[in-house]
Amino acid sequence: MKDSFNMSKLLRSNVARLDPYRSARDEFKGGNEPMVFLDANENPYPNGVNRYPDPYQQDLKEVLSRLKDVHTSKILLGNGSDEVLDLLFRAFCEPGIDNIITVPPSYGMYKVLAGINDIENREVFLSPNFELRVQEIVGAQDERSKLLFLCSPNNPTGNSFSEECILQLLNAFNGLVVIDEAYIDFSEKESWLKRLDQFPNLVIVQTLSKAYGLAGIRLGMCYASEAIIAVLHKIKPPYNVNELTQQRAMDRLLKTDEVNNEISCLLDAKEILYKQLLDIYFVSHVYTSDANFILTKVDDASKRYEQLIKAGVVVRDRSSQPLCENTLRITVGTKTENEHLIAVLKTL
Ligand SMILES: Cc1ncc(COP(=O)(O)O)c(C=O)c1O
Repeated sequence: MKDSFNMSKLLRSNVARLDPYRSARDEFKGGNEPMVFLDANENPYPNGVNRYPDPYQQDLKEVLSRLKDVHTSKILLGNGSDEVLDLLFRAFCEPGIDNIITVPPSYGMYKVLAGINDIENREVFLSPNFELRVQEIVGAQDERSKLLFLCSPNNPTGNSFSEECILQLLNAFNGLVVIDEAYIDFSEKESWLKRLDQFPNLVIVQTLSKAYGLAGIRLGMCYASEAIIAVLHKIKPPYNVNELTQQRAMDRLLKTDEVNNEISCLLDAKEILYKQLLDIYFVSHVYTSDANFILTKVDDASKRYEQLIKAGVVVRDRSSQPLCENTLRITVGTKTENEHLIAVLKTL
């Protein structure tokens, strides 16, 4: 339990002072009684989406709340988790003054968002076996360090960070610890969601883009204390999650069996792929993965990448990332797609 934490000290002063935009649906909420809505300059002829969506996505949040066992006041939804990550920068990081800490190799958007928001990105590389170097991370912080990004399971390496290391960081980092759990549904490790109430500086980001198979609708979730969520709601664009997305997300979240079945098929396919990759002569290492992709070390990543492209298979060359020289990141596909990949690799 972290006692000394004071969220308002981390907040940008302009955000603390901000008088947020009030939409038509903020001014009048109403109940179930039929009303004539002449307040938002919408086209009144019904077509399913002629009205603005619920700016707070209450129905969708109730579904998520039941599923994840988190109160709706601790949930913020965004246009993909990339929007959620950007909101964290805009709420807490003073351009040109504050800094964040990232632990490469990791998801590239943290660095890009730091660049966009003019925030110094202090990089503390993972150890050669892709674990967190806790002392170095703690040593890299100062009084202007606002956010620490931990992606677990980590993209592109695929491993989850040890619980002990994350606990130490939650206790020792003075800003917000953002755990990006984009791939958590593929992992046997527990989500940190259960421990949200223990750590006022914990922010968890998840997405429907991966295991839930809804990358196209753009829905990201942020779970944090009520105080943090209230701040993010204050600065988010009023209608950041559109009506179609809210409906599709709700439909899918209720189809638990369908989603679990796909996850289980992908995990089985990953095991097969893992073994088959070990047999490819130019693959020198296959990293174990808690996610829906596998990082492999090869003899010459750029050459193998080009050869695969010529054969109609697109993987990701991650060699530009620290500690990832000559690596390819391969997403687990359908059984047929994986068989095709292996057949092509065998011909090279
Ligand atoms: C670790 C991680 N976080 C976030 C994202 C972005 O997710 P979304 O589609 O919700 O913006 C990705 C996408 O690849 C990711 O790998």
